[in-house]
Amino acid sequence: MEVKIYDNAEEIAVAAAKLFVDIINEKNDAVLGLATGATPVPTYGKLIEAYKNGEVSFEKVRTFNLDEYCDLPKDDKNSYYTFMHEQLFNAVDVKEENVNFLDGNAEDWEAESKRYAEAMASVGGIDIQLLGIGTNGHIGFNEPADAFTDESFKVTLTQSTINSNQKYFGDVPMPRYALTMGIGSIMRAKKILLIATGESKAKAIAGMIKGGVTPQLPASVLNEHQDAIIMLDKAAASLLD
Ligand code: F6R
Repeated sequence: MEVKIYDNAEEIAVAAAKLFVDIINEKNDAVLGLATGATPVPTYGKLIEAYKNGEVSFEKVRTFNLDEYCDLPKDDKNSYYTFMHEQLFNAVDVKEENVNFLDGNAEDWEAESKRYAEAMASVGGIDIQLLGIGTNGHIGFNEPADAFTDESFKVTLTQSTINSNQKYFGDVPMPRYALTMGIGSIMRAKKILLIATGESKAKAIAGMIKGGVTPQLPASVLNEHQDAIIMLDKAAASLLD
């Protein structure tokens, strides 16, 4: 893992977007693994800027998102499908047919997992996977567990994740389940970029970097990836030596 520390979230967004732009310009039909949540929003903003300045085109890019809530209509204002369209897709020239999500309402999640795995494999796998990290060390919605997962699966969200994300749903109780890429699906990406900002992530980051590989802190598995970059602001890096 290569750990890079930046002064603030803005500097991370610039560096992260540049990495994506360089990969897309090298391979026009690059396959991007994308994340939702607050952390990547500034990076998506920089990607939109780069597109508007003519520095990059998403016309041939294929995207696969990490996760989607269950029991929420696809076009609900809090679905990750809606989030990605609002934060990135609607503002760039990506083609809707090249945008992929797990279907959180699929009746048979195992068949849905198989479909997603086949779709990723059929385009040659993910070139770069963007990740955030939960305060409990989750990546995607791989919550702390006794064993690492492989392909996508249906997960029961932990109280920690519910505490972090309920704010987006206001008074309506947020979903208790999600479909998420498994650790195996994430680790098969050729390159991984995890970004973390803010003091609330400092403990999970210190555990990931210093605590050894354990499914109790899912992000720690990135120590075993051959090309993982970790971009941190000073607050997220504050418990590192
Ligand atoms: C989102 C995802 C999650 C988030 C994590 C951090 O697709 O997979 O792992 O990256 O929960 O969320 P934020 O960035 O909101 O702190």
